[in-house]
Amino acid sequence: MTYSQSALEAALTSLPLGTPLHYFERIGSTNDEARRLAENGAPEGTLVVADEQTAGRGRAGRTWVTPAGSAIAASFILRPALASSQLGVLSLVGGLAAAIAIENVCALRSQLKWPNDVWLRDRKVCGVLAEASHAGDARVDWVVLGIGINVSGAPPGGANLRYPATTVEAASGRAVDRTALLVALAEALADYYITLDAARVVHAWSKHMLWRGQTVRVDTGRQPFTGVVRGVSADGGLVLTLDGGETHTIAAGEISLLRKTSEVH
Ligand code: BTN
Repeated sequence: MTYSQSALEAALTSLPLGTPLHYFERIGSTNDEARRLAENGAPEGTLVVADEQTAGRGRAGRTWVTPAGSAIAASFILRPALASSQLGVLSLVGGLAAAIAIENVCALRSQLKWPNDVWLRDRKVCGVLAEASHAGDARVDWVVLGIGINVSGAPPGGANLRYPATTVEAASGRAVDRTALLVALAEALADYYITLDAARVVHAWSKHMLWRGQTVRVDTGRQPFTGVVRGVSADGGLVLTLDGGETHTIAAGEISLLRKTSEVH
């Protein structure tokens, strides 16, 4: 089913994030459009939504498929009063908001793969692409928080996928109203973003953490790390116990499961 733009606008209008709404039946990438709007001074809360993306982008230069009528592709423009070094917690908020929205609308318990993928029943259902522009004084000028949720239809497949994918409907076994899910996403995002209380974000995020106690590899673009996942630090980093026994916190990277450990925590 396609969106009703007027219904979406009406539902978002009372929320702190989601207005003005820029809606497209089809677009290359909502993040690209949101970046363009942000560069041109669009206010905090501006939301770009598309029914279909023809050039959706994922993390690490990967592509992200958004077929018409079956997914959420949404990019929020945020203008947080943050130093660039404080962006780690904000990056957690996108995945947390999607997890909460899925729980509230579909009564499904989800898990979060650091930093911001949402998984349902051992499969990825949502990804977040956070992109920021930094002012000269190391403060953030704008952040575009792009969130993609597979809602219905055939789950994305193909050799390019790093993990098996699912949709919210496949996991819940029920029809899901995309508009209700998108509005719940904007609500949950506002709930955690407006105060941006790092301790509250990390506490809520940690309850969903995937692979805690498991051995993972983290690719950082420089040196890879291997260790057991312990949790998330106060500033949103991944806390590992490395093979040598020391504790190490990683600010940014791609995590993959190496092996399940039988350690008791
Ligand atoms: C990932 O897991 O690699 C992140 C995927 C992010 C996809 C969303 S869909 C809305 C927004 N527009 C894009 O082009 N990408 C993000």
